[in-house]
Amino acid sequence: MKGAVRKAVIPAAGLGTRFLPATKSQPKEMLPVVDKPSIQYVVEEAVRAGLTDILIITGRGKRAIEDHFDRNFELEFYLEQKGKTDLLKEVQETSELGDIHYIRQRDPLGLGHAVSVAREHVGNEPFAVLLGDDIMVDDSALLRSMLDVHDRYGRSVLALKEVAPEEISSYGCVEPEVVDEALVRVHSIVEKPSREEAPSNLAVIGRYVFTPEIFDALDRIEPGAGGELQLTDAIGLLNESQTVYGQVFTDGRYDIGQKIDFLRANVELALERDDIGPDLLAFLVDLLHRRGLT
Ligand code: G1P
Repeated sequence: MKGAVRKAVIPAAGLGTRFLPATKSQPKEMLPVVDKPSIQYVVEEAVRAGLTDILIITGRGKRAIEDHFDRNFELEFYLEQKGKTDLLKEVQETSELGDIHYIRQRDPLGLGHAVSVAREHVGNEPFAVLLGDDIMVDDSALLRSMLDVHDRYGRSVLALKEVAPEEISSYGCVEPEVVDEALVRVHSIVEKPSREEAPSNLAVIGRYVFTPEIFDALDRIEPGAGGELQLTDAIGLLNESQTVYGQVFTDGRYDIGQKIDFLRANVELALERDDIGPDLLAFLVDLLHRRGLT
């Protein structure tokens, strides 16, 4: 279906086991990158790309996400009394980031299932899916270009990125047919193939634009890789009746589901900040020096 995309779905129901014990009693999406919870970067990316209706799929233990995007009158009053106007502005802006809705995924049956619970809210419209483990540092350029491809062809679009052969088994992987430099048609798609079975080194990264027909495909999938209902398998089914496109990108991204990338995101994004960047750089230079590395 063609037409302007307004809605974004952000699955945030995962248990975050990779970050235990930090995620024992708080959602992994609330772990800060510098001083902002990681999910806020994702919501801001969606809003910057022009998406005005955001649906966050939550689950047990995720109430802090709803509180984060809500007003906090007590805090606002306190900051106002203390004259902390910059902080007050930040706090108020967080609760004005578009129209945010929540649905709970009761059973953690997989990413495909998480997206399927958005069906009623999304209705018969195209929509975007943004996975919270990916933080993009591209000013929403990738998502915008995917929305452009959807506008042009009226079809679903996946974000694709070349990864090292040893990494492909962590991702959905496509067999591409080249359309032009950065655009491919998906010939086939497989979830987390072994390095030997992978049809290419193009990995699906956590940004998607879907036609509403993905919901019919989601209804038809069986448990796949890891015993979970996989979004990738539904994309494969959708591709049988509607061409699915892939937008290949090279810009930076952090896979903050990986500890090393989580740390890298914190360091690199802090280095870009005027308030703490210079001090952090001085600290890093000194650290390298003390370790005998410079
Ligand atoms: C999910 C998808 C996978 C995709 C990845 C992107 O996997 O199932 O196809 O490549 O996100 O980050 P997960 O990271 O949840 O295991």
